[in-house]
Amino acid sequence: MSKPKQEVVSVPTGRLVGTTIMAIGCGTPDGEVNNGFAAATAFLREGAKVCLVDRDPNALEQATRVLAEAAAQAGANGAVTAGRGRLGGVDLDAQLTTVVADVGDEDSLAAAFAHCADRLGGPTVLHYNVGIVVNGGVDELETDGFRRALDINLTGAFSAIKHALPHMRAAGHGSIISVSSVGGMRYMGYDYPAYAASKAGLIELTKVVGAQYASEGIRANSIAPGLIETPLIHRSISGHYDSVEDMLAARHAQSPTGKMGRPEDVADLAVFLASNESAYINSTLIPVDGGLTHYAGMPKR
Ligand SMILES: NC(=O)c1ccc[n+]([C@@H]2O[C@H](COP(=O)([O-])OP(=O)(O)OC[C@H]3O[C@@H](n4cnc5c(N)ncnc54)[C@H](O)[C@@H]3O)[C@@H](O)[C@H]2O)c1
Repeated sequence: MSKPKQEVVSVPTGRLVGTTIMAIGCGTPDGEVNNGFAAATAFLREGAKVCLVDRDPNALEQATRVLAEAAAQAGANGAVTAGRGRLGGVDLDAQLTTVVADVGDEDSLAAAFAHCADRLGGPTVLHYNVGIVVNGGVDELETDGFRRALDINLTGAFSAIKHALPHMRAAGHGSIISVSSVGGMRYMGYDYPAYAASKAGLIELTKVVGAQYASEGIRANSIAPGLIETPLIHRSISGHYDSVEDMLAARHAQSPTGKMGRPEDVADLAVFLASNESAYINSTLIPVDGGLTHYAGMPKR
């Protein structure tokens, strides 16, 4: 009989107090915990000021609502969790602002950075979470679909980094975090070359930025989530399977641990990369995948 897993609860350490973070693509369209919202929540929990950016105003409203509810409950009894960590002590009025922007529209991105600087100060951390899945093999997909994935997943990151750099240079330090994917390194069994190529490009873009600006105290690293249980897979991946149940079972089985990861697993690495604890980690890619990238065997029983 397998032992029950120990629940992990992140205890706030305040290690991001004094840090302003531009968290792009970190709303939650349905109020559920996705990778972006989990990261934003963890940043706030650690004391950061967070400018939450999303193209979808509803995703920002939902995020604000869920955070406000969690913070209010935490205030009442000190122990309610939002995602993995306790949210007590977070002052949303002082720490959070939201702004609608589409990473495909550089003017709106520029306005979002100006909004952040005005409300919370210039950001010294950029968390680029935006990633759209464009399905279809090369024989099925129109060229426009390929371009769309590159535009949003890769060119959008280029633009965001471009607008973040002046703030980081002015501060004399910075940390750029891009959310890529194991799908940008390995064939996952899904035919989505546009997504895979955009994520592979994002990995290298991030590495070269880290190398170029290292002497100015600016670091850049990618996170490669593996198989994570998020609302996105229900929307964009379930079509690869006969049913949602089949998808969940197959993705759990495909993971060496026997379980998909959780958004909070990805968020914990984002906090580390945003903090000074990762001060000498630069121009690299860190998977959060339970060992998937290295695993070439059959699913375990
Ligand atoms: N779930 C997984 O198994 C998995 C695996 C590997 C990588 N990832 C990566 O994780 C990230 C997705 O995380 P999530 O769970 O938060 O996804 P999500 O789709 O729930 O959230 C992404 C947010 O980005 C916003 N967005 C989309 N296009 C935008 C644009 N043009 N401009 C501004 N905002 C935009 C959406 O409105 C949404 O709120 C992606 O980069 C994805 O590639 C996920």
